[in-house]
Order: sequence, then C-alpha cells, then structure tokens
Amino acid sequence: MSVKKISKEQPNSFEFNSKNTDAAKKIIANYPEGKQQSAVMALLFIAQRQNNNWIPLAAMKYIAKFLDMPYIKVYEVATFYSMYNLAPVGKFFYQVCTTTPCMLRGAYKLVDLCKSKISKKENELSENGNCSWMEVECLGACVNSPMIQINDDYYEDLDEKKLEKIIDQTLKNETPKAGSYRGRFNSEPENGRKTLMGFKNA
Ligand code: FES
Repeated sequence: MSVKKISKEQPNSFEFNSKNTDAAKKIIANYPEGKQQSAVMALLFIAQRQNNNWIPLAAMKYIAKFLDMPYIKVYEVATFYSMYNLAPVGKFFYQVCTTTPCMLRGAYKLVDLCKSKISKKENELSENGNCSWMEVECLGACVNSPMIQINDDYYEDLDEKKLEKIIDQTLKNETPKAGSYRGRFNSEPENGRKTLMGFKNA
C-alpha cells in the first residue's frame, strides 16, 4: 500500500517558470470559460516536474490562486492520488508494485532488497541521496510481474539478482536499461509468438 507523507521541510514560495506558465495557460485554454479548475491535475503534475519530482505546499497554494479555487480543494487532489509526491524523492524514484500478481511472483523480495540497499523505510532517501522507493498498487503491467517503475520507465520480469544490479547502477548515478529483464518484447511469450501468426502487428 502506498503511504503519503507530507515533507516537514517546505520552501516558502513557489511559482511556475516562464515555460511552465505558458504550458499551464495552454492547458487551461482547453476548458470552457469558468471551468479552469478542471486543469488542477495537469498543473500539479507540471509543478511536480519543475520541483524535482515533488509538490510542496507552496505549489498547491500557488496553483489554487492560478486557478481561482480554494487551496483545500487543490490539497485534496494532491493528497489523494499516489502519482503526486509530497516530499522529496530520489533522483531515481522506485515504485515497487506489490499488488497480487506481482506479490505472488516475489514482489516482497524486491521490497526487502529496497529496504536493505536503498533505505530501511519507504519514502526515505538513500544515504547518497540518489534513490528512494515506495510500495504502490498495480501499475498495469501484471503480465510482466514482478515489476517496478523508476521515474517514467518500467523495469519488468525482475528477480532479486536483477534488481540488485539495477539498484547498484542507480546508486552510482547510472540509468539502467528499461523494459523486460528476461528479454521479452513487451508481453509476448519468452520463446516467441505462437498465436495470431498470420498477423504482422498482432
Ligand atoms: S500487479 Fe503489479 S503491475 Fe499489476
């Protein structure tokens, strides 16, 4: 289960840089007059990207003003969805899926490895500050379980040895290769396709 933790250390202020101000205005323009609040999720996402992958309270207040809506409503959205980080995360942010298909195929061994190699508790930075991890619900790649997400990429068909190498790389500031770690193409069988052979792009 993912755990939400709001950082005790907060910056005093936040505002979009000029590129993100333009991006936010473009998104708002997609909605009818008076419905600009519908852009709140997209603006929170932009704020997170701008702020090293986490959203400070100052950013929520800024977005509330930007969209002319109550701060508490922005806060409710930001604290509800697990995609928003409310405290600093590592440059390599691990999300370990522990929902049933991944759990049955060893996800908790991956969690134990994260505990021993990254940080004892989830949502804490590794000693060198490079990595952090958290448990999450199904990431929609169950057929390639167990799997994790690091930043925007999926790492699939894992086991402890494979994850150990991945963690070692990220601790050294190297970006590991994404995708299946058993050489599969997407979710096709390991030893080649056996059905729908008559279709090129099946
Ligand atoms: S259960 Fe892990 S990706 Fe679905």
